[in-house]
Amino acid sequence: MELNETYWTDRYKNNQLGWDIGYPSPAIAEFMGQVENKNAKILIPGCGNAYEAAYLWKKGFNNVFLLDFSSIPLQKFSSENPDFPKAQLLNIDFFNVDGKFDFIIEQTFFCALNPDLRSNYAEKMIQLLEPAGRLVGLLFNIPLFEDHPPFGGNQKEYKKLFSKYFEIQKMETAYNSIPERQGNELFIKLKPIN
Ligand SMILES: C[S@@+](CC[C@H](N)C(=O)[O-])C[C@H]1O[C@@H](n2cnc3c(N)ncnc32)[C@H](O)[C@@H]1O
Repeated sequence: MELNETYWTDRYKNNQLGWDIGYPSPAIAEFMGQVENKNAKILIPGCGNAYEAAYLWKKGFNNVFLLDFSSIPLQKFSSENPDFPKAQLLNIDFFNVDGKFDFIIEQTFFCALNPDLRSNYAEKMIQLLEPAGRLVGLLFNIPLFEDHPPFGGNQKEYKKLFSKYFEIQKMETAYNSIPERQGNELFIKLKPIN
């Protein structure tokens, strides 16, 4: 199964959005709510309907970039948040984006990618983060599926992968997951090894 733009766009067209929680993730909102620098450059890759971005925008973060290779959720976000700069909506493949970011936010994007791409994901994150930047968010800590997304994983495997590239500042069971995911996801805060 090729997890390309057509695959994901069809999911949006058919309203098969099992991942979509419909509101900002409390764990991400709580973490980002403590960031004082409202000019921090933030990337949300595989953003989908991007409720976290609407939250951040309303909180005054003005440098938030949304990225998804399906245009459907980006258009929906734009129509619901008409003041949000169109230039900050990136309708491209994550692996082709350039730039440097202070924060990159992970939520159900890693698990959407073919597991063969996990090292590429980590390497791309390193390329995109400022030296003092952070990759923050949530990763599933359960097996899930092997032949289609969401692909699962576990802490041991993530530690092995990410410790090649990052100082793992936090990787622990999130205490503020949504009820449906309670106990099944890790909150991560990863800093590039310089
Ligand atoms: C499981 S959904 C998660 C959406 C959102 N993060 C959420 O939690 O609601 C995965 C998203 O990643 C996007 N996506 C998958 N692979 C991508 C890639 N290589 N580049 C950009 N977007 C991608 C899909 O279009 C989809 O919107």
